[in-house]
Amino acid sequence: MNTFKRYTITAALPYANGPLHIGHIAGAYLPADTYVRFLRLRGEDVVFICGSDEHGVAITIGSKKEGATPRQFVDKYHQLMKKAFQDFDISFDIYSRTSNPVHYETAQEFFTTIYNKGLLNEETSDQYYDEQEGIFLADRYIIGTCPNCGHPNAYGDQCEKCGTSLSPRQLINPRSTVSGKTPVLRPTKHWYFPLDKFENWLKEWLIEGHKNDWKTNVYGQCKSWLDQGLQPRSITRDLEWGIPVPLPEGKGKVLYVWFDAPIGYISATKELRPNDWQKYWKDPETRLIHFIGKDNIVFHCIIFPSMLKATGDFILPDNVPANEFLNLEGDKISTSRNHAVWLHEYLEDFPGRRDELRYVLNSIAPETKDADFTWKDYQQKVNSELVSILGNFVNRVMVLTWKYFEGKVPSEHELPGTDDRRTKILAVYHQAHADLNVSVNEMIQALQGFRFREAQFQMMNMARIGNKFLAETEPWKLAKEDMEAVGSILNYALTIVGNIGMACEPFLPEAAASIRRQLNAEALRESWKKFWHKEELIQAVPQYHQLGKPELLYKNVEDSEIEKQVEKLKKPKMEVIASENPVKPLKPEIVYDDFAKLDIRVGTVLTAERMEKSDKLLKLTVDTGIDKRTVLSGIAKHYTPEEITGKQVTLIVNLAPRKMMGIESQGMILMAEDRDGKLKLVLPSDEVKPGSTVS
Ligand code: 2FM
Ligand code: ZN
Repeated sequence: MNTFKRYTITAALPYANGPLHIGHIAGAYLPADTYVRFLRLRGEDVVFICGSDEHGVAITIGSKKEGATPRQFVDKYHQLMKKAFQDFDISFDIYSRTSNPVHYETAQEFFTTIYNKGLLNEETSDQYYDEQEGIFLADRYIIGTCPNCGHPNAYGDQCEKCGTSLSPRQLINPRSTVSGKTPVLRPTKHWYFPLDKFENWLKEWLIEGHKNDWKTNVYGQCKSWLDQGLQPRSITRDLEWGIPVPLPEGKGKVLYVWFDAPIGYISATKELRPNDWQKYWKDPETRLIHFIGKDNIVFHCIIFPSMLKATGDFILPDNVPANEFLNLEGDKISTSRNHAVWLHEYLEDFPGRRDELRYVLNSIAPETKDADFTWKDYQQKVNSELVSILGNFVNRVMVLTWKYFEGKVPSEHELPGTDDRRTKILAVYHQAHADLNVSVNEMIQALQGFRFREAQFQMMNMARIGNKFLAETEPWKLAKEDMEAVGSILNYALTIVGNIGMACEPFLPEAAASIRRQLNAEALRESWKKFWHKEELIQAVPQYHQLGKPELLYKNVEDSEIEKQVEKLKKPKMEVIASENPVKPLKPEIVYDDFAKLDIRVGTVLTAERMEKSDKLLKLTVDTGIDKRTVLSGIAKHYTPEEITGKQVTLIVNLAPRKMMGIESQGMILMAEDRDGKLKLVLPSDEVKPGSTVS
């Protein structure tokens, strides 16, 4: 990696259509930030680029739902996301937006350059048009029945039920989501980028050229795209919101959002470095890396590079370390179901605990496969790793140094092996030193290879080794008899603390700052830089250096804090279930006599068993107070025989017997059916005698 002079690091421009959640952070922004912090610590010249993606149907649909204009809508979410990134301390050099004038110019220039090279094909084809609204409908604006699975509300680009990708014309009974009307087909002209012409070049540059250095999940997806063959892709749309097509005959048309969005990286760099942006995009000694989630792979690895290549003088991404998805409590993160941990809410609920979320997300990073975030695991990782391993080690060393040496770094005595105890201390020290050097080296290798999970593990390993070193040397036991040995042990322990302070900076910026305060190390930072190149332990604090006061790095996450979060996740689901399952309509009116005909009693279930060949029915024997009878009840999916035996039930006892699956049922158990279809027994509030009547 030393052959590059500078770095352009981009993180996917998030759509300005909703707040950020932990899936976004784990997918692209945290790994990008970790990597950039690492590069800066190595003294590299780096620009870290991001901003809001403000065009496309994700925006127009969203704004309609909120009853806002697209402009109002993106203004709102741009501010919200920018603030959340800032509050979480993602260290972008710029967080721009694709509605900025410089971006309009840059994107239009791109289009014009490619157009002037004669590379674009114009083509007129029939597309769905909403006559009532007077607009052409983007694929997402059309719903209809899926030809594959029959789902009645499949989108024009994909059926979310069976996952088949579709084109609008495959839908049965298409409807416009804007007006609800059936759209008609109308001819419209668009411009197509000839992706097919780049196929051979892509095979060489990507399939051959990046066989060994790109992640297998990324490489595999690209290869399968290329194996299927590439088609020309339309790069314009009939929409009002977007960047106008810079051609007289392109009136009323805009650039496709996936054409303009990646160009946003370039426009944002122009905004950041108006005078020398070109060297970050055109000098082959610049290393370009895109951090993205897996749903963006094709755009960043195939389409955008082809666009860059088509214009002629841009560098290409050297790597695209895309992540897989993060799930939440075993379920997909979903914005519409509100099944998410929103970044701004986390920051409100856990003030000052950014490191904790960084640590947990990094340690479960979906680098090679989807991963699952659970609050229980969050609590466990904070309490038993950040608090018990890292925080505890740093604190013990600080407290001991204050206790025995008034906060001054003790001198590093040679410990000649004159007695067994000193010989043992020396052996422990040599082992710790060797282990620490391995960890530092592996951490840096892993950071270079975008393996942040492993890199962070090696960083934490340094604290594990530190704790082991203290446990095996036990300086507190030597205080009376051998202060020289105590001094040597603590001198080395402080070296470990200092090196952890350096190593944790890309992962845990807050802990790094605290360790620097505790070691009173601001003035030493210059000498710390060599750590990142030497790739082994360095002397962190000179002897007799005055330390700062001990601070606690982390505190335990309490059960109550976690329970609150878990509850919060349950709530919106119930609301959504309720809204998706409207209350059943009222039945026709009856008179009292109709009701009085029912003989309803409370009984007790004596025995319960499953029915063969039925997954719904349980066969119950019920003591009704009048008799003991057999009742079949369709509750097998809601209660096990063990659960229901001995329970009181409310039942209608004068219903004419009914035969089901060869057995006669002599009554009916009353159940409440929840909005999501769950059944619960209807019971008196306190126990009553079998045979009690209900009226
Ligand atoms: O998937 C998304 O959220 C897109 N807005 C990412 C765009 S990345 C880049 F091309 F700007
Ligand atoms: Zn389907």
